Amino acid sequence: MNALSNPQAFQRDLLAWYRAGARPLPWRTAPSLYKTVVSEFMLQQTQIKTALPYFERWMRELPDFTALASATEARVVKLWEGLGYYTRARNLHKLARAIAALPEPPRTPGAWLELPGVGPYTAAAITSISFGAPVACVDGNVVRILARLTANDTVFRDSASAAKFFAPLANTLVNTAHPGDHNQAMMELGATVCARQNPSCVICPVRAHCDAARTLAPESFPRLAAKKIEEQKITRIWLLDAKRDAVLLHRAAASARRLAGIFELPAPEHLGLGEKDITAKNAKKAAEQKRSITRYRIAEAFFKLSPDAALRKRIDARVAASNDTLHWVPLSALARATLSGPHRRIVNAHFSGARHARPCI
Ligand code: ADE
Repeated sequence: MNALSNPQAFQRDLLAWYRAGARPLPWRTAPSLYKTVVSEFMLQQTQIKTALPYFERWMRELPDFTALASATEARVVKLWEGLGYYTRARNLHKLARAIAALPEPPRTPGAWLELPGVGPYTAAAITSISFGAPVACVDGNVVRILARLTANDTVFRDSASAAKFFAPLANTLVNTAHPGDHNQAMMELGATVCARQNPSCVICPVRAHCDAARTLAPESFPRLAAKKIEEQKITRIWLLDAKRDAVLLHRAAASARRLAGIFELPAPEHLGLGEKDITAKNAKKAAEQKRSITRYRIAEAFFKLSPDAALRKRIDARVAASNDTLHWVPLSALARATLSGPHRRIVNAHFSGARHARPCI
């Protein structure tokens, strides 16, 4: 006996729970199409607690599609600073321009899929929440719930293939009378009750419809092949020009796959430097940080470089030939530059005095 045995009863129990206790998120209370679209873009790769202050500020600064459509790209990306995956900001900007040019926004998942940055999940979320389209959202949270409801022990290669597998089941279970609330209830359940580890089955509103809850180890579903973790070591350089009171930064080209147009502290290879150019004599480690992105574990070390005249000459030649990717940025302008989130935190914590620091929100 699981959700598939009686989909209506499953939908009813899920919806009653959601409506009684959903978190009052700012895109849920007094919703609008614009709030739904912005929140869905922010939440594509970001947790709610991280996105919340960005969402609030975004709504103050760019309150509707027209305001967003007429903003500059630099302003849009600056407002996104620290959220990562900056293509989302650029796509959202393009999307607003496309919507502003239409007599009215499209209403079907198929039409939304044509817009920049909108994949199947986002198209289903936007159209079910804003227009009542009877389609299910399927992401990692939903996969987890569905695999547990049905105690499905298939081993999936990755989360994308699991999502493909579970999409038909998700659409069978979607509540066609209230698809937006149903989808948000699934998201809410995945985020608060049906957690990856230590799911709270005792308080689960759909426990009676769940095969995995009757097993000893509900957290063993879904089964995903182990990811190959790759370790990466990265060196970064803090190079100050005392005369200019400026720091050397690298800006990824506008066509770059990652961090297009975003400033970071340069790596030695950006400056044409090799391992032997950075020595105990001319460099001092100032900070170190570890983080994980997808399957990469990144250890990043930051060195203050004091180059001798010959090395400095080589670096200056490199800057001159850098085709607009290496920039001396005055410390007084550092807060206004758009830095990657990790580098903004490092700069604030270790390199610039309080006068230049600007906390990430
Ligand atoms: N994750 C993606 N979309 C969401 C939403 N609308 N509410 C909560 N979590 C989400």
